[in-house]
Amino acid sequence: MYKGIIERYRQFLPVNDKTPIVTLCEGNTPLIFSESLSNEIGLKIYLKYEGLNPTGSFKDRGMTMAISKAKEKGATTIMCASTGNTSASAAAYAAQCGLKCVVLIPDGNIALGKLAQAMIHNAKVIAIRGNFDDALNLVKTITEKYPIELVNSLNPFRIEGQKTGAFEICDSLKAAPEFHAIPVGNAGNITAYWKGYQAYRAAGQTKTLPKMLGFQAAGSAPIVLNRIVEKPETIATAIRIGNPASWKSALAARDESQGLIDAVTDEEIISAYKRLAAEGVFAEPASAAPVAGILKYHRQGYFKDFKGARIVCTLTGHGLKDPNIAIKNVGQPVTLNADIAEILQEVGI
Ligand code: F0G
Repeated sequence: MYKGIIERYRQFLPVNDKTPIVTLCEGNTPLIFSESLSNEIGLKIYLKYEGLNPTGSFKDRGMTMAISKAKEKGATTIMCASTGNTSASAAAYAAQCGLKCVVLIPDGNIALGKLAQAMIHNAKVIAIRGNFDDALNLVKTITEKYPIELVNSLNPFRIEGQKTGAFEICDSLKAAPEFHAIPVGNAGNITAYWKGYQAYRAAGQTKTLPKMLGFQAAGSAPIVLNRIVEKPETIATAIRIGNPASWKSALAARDESQGLIDAVTDEEIISAYKRLAAEGVFAEPASAAPVAGILKYHRQGYFKDFKGARIVCTLTGHGLKDPNIAIKNVGQPVTLNADIAEILQEVGI
């Protein structure tokens, strides 16, 4: 029976016999070969579909570790700031093991599904008049002063858990890919994947390392611009972040892997989002950023010397997280009378 990422990758994770493992059987997500993207780019493109985690995002990999370690330590309350997915995951794992969960979210800028998740799992949800960066600063200050466990990716156990995404990819491909493309918001996940690829190579499981290709949204691209963005904006609310906590380690992942971190526009993100959906894969807008990114770099000829190479894109969250944006981009269904003739006419039969 599959028991989640901690049991599967125990030897690579800082747990011991006394750590109470809190799991919802996260991980073990599909690596989907994209024929259409592969044909267009001329390389092998794979989609690591993290939307199929228990709460619908990659955050569950980090949360099983952070919550298990919080339990081990005897914590009673956890807290995070979130653009939505971290709060949904924290709320679910806290609910499973009876911890109190407090989340700060930016007022009006979190996708409906994520808000619903945090609320239904009984977290104390506080929308603050400010953005994610303001919320994270508050959470840092509060958790430094009071006996509350911080479960944002500043918590090193989050990164430890998230690095298992890289392990699964290498296990599936029987090697590390040549490129790994990933959205960058608070920059924890690019940090985690790079750590995972390095750990797997050090353990002799793989022989090579991928180039890390990180993509921010153009209106929220502090790492690309090399300065804090005071008022980040993007349709991809998950990565609407102007001052990433793991900024330095994202730069290290970029430079050590000889990769890059660049920006894609909201138009490019929505176009990639619709394209993924058109091949049956529903991922939230932030997750489409790496796909938009590799298409942009393909147009610029970046991959022309890498024939036969593999690119893995992490699709970080499920499309159902943000139903409003889907409807907004495709419109409403036609409404007809309950009449066969009308239906056949509409279908064109
Ligand atoms: N994709 C999705 C769907 C996310 O929810 C996030 C981050 C990212 C990408 C970026 O990952 O922050 O590790 O660089 N969401 C956080 C949250 C900030 O609060 O849910 P990152």
